[in-house]
Amino acid sequence: MRFNKPISVLLAEASESGEGTLKRTLSSANLVALGIGAIIGAGLFSLTGIAAAENAGPAVVLSFILAAIGCAFAGLCYAEFASMIPVAGSAYTYAYATMGEFMAWIIGWDLVLEYALGAATVAVSWSRYLLELLHKHGLSIPHHLAVSPFETVKLGDGTIIDGGLINLPAIFIVCLLSFVLVRGSKESATMNNVLVVIKIVVVLVFIALGWSHINPENHIPFIPENTGKYENFGWTGIAAGAGVVFFAFIGFDAVSTAAQEAKNPQKGMPIGILGSLIVCTILYVLFAYVMTGLLKYTEFAGDAKPAATAFAVTGYSFLQDALIVAILAGYTSVILVMLMGQSRVFYTMSKDGLLPKFFSNIHAKFSTPWKTNIFFMIFVSAFAGFVPVSDLGHMVSIGTLLAFVLVCIGILVLRKTDPDTPRPFRTPWVPFVPIMGILVCLYLMYSLPAESWGRLVIWMALGVIIYFVYGKKHSVVRRKYAESLKK
Ligand code: ALA
Repeated sequence: MRFNKPISVLLAEASESGEGTLKRTLSSANLVALGIGAIIGAGLFSLTGIAAAENAGPAVVLSFILAAIGCAFAGLCYAEFASMIPVAGSAYTYAYATMGEFMAWIIGWDLVLEYALGAATVAVSWSRYLLELLHKHGLSIPHHLAVSPFETVKLGDGTIIDGGLINLPAIFIVCLLSFVLVRGSKESATMNNVLVVIKIVVVLVFIALGWSHINPENHIPFIPENTGKYENFGWTGIAAGAGVVFFAFIGFDAVSTAAQEAKNPQKGMPIGILGSLIVCTILYVLFAYVMTGLLKYTEFAGDAKPAATAFAVTGYSFLQDALIVAILAGYTSVILVMLMGQSRVFYTMSKDGLLPKFFSNIHAKFSTPWKTNIFFMIFVSAFAGFVPVSDLGHMVSIGTLLAFVLVCIGILVLRKTDPDTPRPFRTPWVPFVPIMGILVCLYLMYSLPAESWGRLVIWMALGVIIYFVYGKKHSVVRRKYAESLKK
């Protein structure tokens, strides 16, 4: 038998109030900011150059559009779910309502890859920009304390750091933001709003000042000829580039994890998800166009800070440091939202009995799931401190794409099983939109390296074992069902 959690039960649980529950404090504008906070980060400021140099050339602009189309299909599905079931837990909760407990667990477990490892990936990238800034000013952290083992870092002046011991700056930022989260969502949302403004300003300044320095010759050829390898240029290169820059869009779905803290989730969820996606797509396309216009795409090969490199062409060198500081601030909000999303998913899974009660323990004063925050502070720090950034990044992308595929399937299932439940926001053109979402996301998964597939399988197998050893035995839905049979 399939153990589902009916939507009516989910909504009743969400409307409970008092001690031990989350507070509704976030407005629609806060939600759009939350989305942008999670979206613009390492993907834009680090990967645009790499995708241009290795995959698409100036046509990285088209890679962004392709990735955005995949995200838009999935985003439309997320928006229907989030407006219909505005409960913390995001895709995990939607699966519980539509595909049963086991699939819900699978998605919840998979989301750790997106949120926890996503936070770790951006923390590592944050530490790179910090290192660059310090190095530029003659200050430096001992290299073995700033770079993880198996990682090679190339600094702006050509200095190479070939493997260290531990990435302490990455651990520092994860710990700092975890404490901010423990203090409360309202405080985190306020800090996030400030960071989002800084981040948008830096992107707009880059576009505005860069525009007049574009050299049209750098955009020729717009689509460099394919070299014979699938991922190197031509149309297939654009597709491969989309798989890389997909990372830049990850996070719009984080809005849905805060559904239970939204003041008016029926309206706020679609606005938050689709609004942030649209704003970011427009900014990305313009940013990538300017960046590849400032310098020939080949110049970005192996450059982990292409935004700073391209900006140097404008001659506004005094703004270079400000740019790096703003990028650091921008990364901070990504890490913050990812960590917050992660704690909300585990909070909900724990409320359902699939994880120990520890994870849903709410702080008496701050009303936050503080023990989960501390747990993930340690978990994320372990990855941020010791694992190379590219391995992390691919795991995040593949895990997120899997979650998107499952959410799109969920919409198809729900239209059959629950056609009459009111939907404040309806995904248009069903089944076309969810089916296209599934196909585009599967295609992007296909373009990721084989090792990430292997790691995905191992991680999911571990999840299945934990479910059968713990979750299935402690499930609240199953326990209630067993009690109802005894009566
Ligand atoms: N989209 C986020 C970033 O690019 C994860 O950093």
